[in-house]
Amino acid sequence: MNTEATISDDERRAERPGFDILGRLLFAAAAFQTLRAACETGLLDALIETGLDRKELSDRIGIRGRWLDTLLTAAAAAGLVARDPTERYEVTEALRPAVRSREWELFKATVAFEHHMTYRGIEMFTESLVNETNAGINRFPGNPGDSLYVRLTGDPQLRKVFYTYMRAWSRIGGSVLWKALAELSPHRLLDIGGGDGVHAIASVKSIPGLTATIVDLADAVDVSRLRITDEGLADRIKVVGVDMFADEFPQGHDVVLFAHQLVIWTENQNEVLLRKANRALPMGGHVVIFSSMTEDTEDGPFIAAMASIYHTAIPVEGGRIYPWGHYERWLGGAGFGDFRRVRSDSWTPHGVIVATKLAEVDPFG
Ligand SMILES: C[S@@+](CC[C@H](N)C(=O)[O-])C[C@H]1O[C@@H](n2cnc3c(N)ncnc32)[C@H](O)[C@@H]1O
Repeated sequence: MNTEATISDDERRAERPGFDILGRLLFAAAAFQTLRAACETGLLDALIETGLDRKELSDRIGIRGRWLDTLLTAAAAAGLVARDPTERYEVTEALRPAVRSREWELFKATVAFEHHMTYRGIEMFTESLVNETNAGINRFPGNPGDSLYVRLTGDPQLRKVFYTYMRAWSRIGGSVLWKALAELSPHRLLDIGGGDGVHAIASVKSIPGLTATIVDLADAVDVSRLRITDEGLADRIKVVGVDMFADEFPQGHDVVLFAHQLVIWTENQNEVLLRKANRALPMGGHVVIFSSMTEDTEDGPFIAAMASIYHTAIPVEGGRIYPWGHYERWLGGAGFGDFRRVRSDSWTPHGVIVATKLAEVDPFG
């Protein structure tokens, strides 16, 4: 029997729109590699100010012949470049504002991170779901049970990719945080898991009289110390090696900041961290949470939902880009209230929640 004949043309046509979506997803990894090549070969930088023909382009970026053909066809199909009637290539009109923007160099650092870290581990996303663990962590050398952050301390090259990205991503989305912090007029900021110090540095520079303490893993604090010394801010920012779970938080601060931090951990761990923040703060003190946020409807934004795949598959067992409301629920249980949500006006799904300490919590909780 000819089974083909049992499917009508109308039925076939009705199916095609779905395959448009599926086809794009099927080749999303190839599209990403096209973007990476367009960034790393300098293709987009070469074509941003003036159009170039194939020969000029080849001389400029050093990719030749059929290798250049593949790159240009993929880049054109992906909407990155276009060929004009005189056979000169240029960055597409839609992309030009981004490639010309202040964020372009920062964006390229996020491309490197996606390639060297995210893609390396997210191939284990399905295995992570099925086995209820961060199965992609095994793609990074280290001891069983160690988080990505501990593993990074043994791999200087990957560590550089990570902190270059982290700083770039923080700077792309950070202005909403730095403004929210300035509005609180804090005196002493405690930055939990402060990374290379990007937020503490931006804050002390813009808030008169502010001093800060950065907490990070003992083997990671050299990253921020170096940067703080370079900036000449060692008298205003202290860095301490503290495990945020094993140790209590340092006392004497009026704001506790969790920047790109609570997305790493499970609900229970976040409740523990927020209770620690409560114990470290005076009444009326503030917790500030900064991160990509998922809508409470849990259907996007796209970038937040996709970034969750990395957090589920790689760094530790249990992270996720949580919806706004989850943070408020945990904060309420940890003695905080008067929540304020602030959305970023960046292209990233960053947001800030500011909460005020209204009650003491169980000191042994
Ligand atoms: C995702 S990065 C965020 C860095 C910075 N807050 C930012 O927004 O750019 C997480 C940071 O938390 C630190 N970290 C991870 N586990 C930790 C722990 N148990 N105690 C202290 N810091 C930790 C990592 O070393 C890393 O610097």
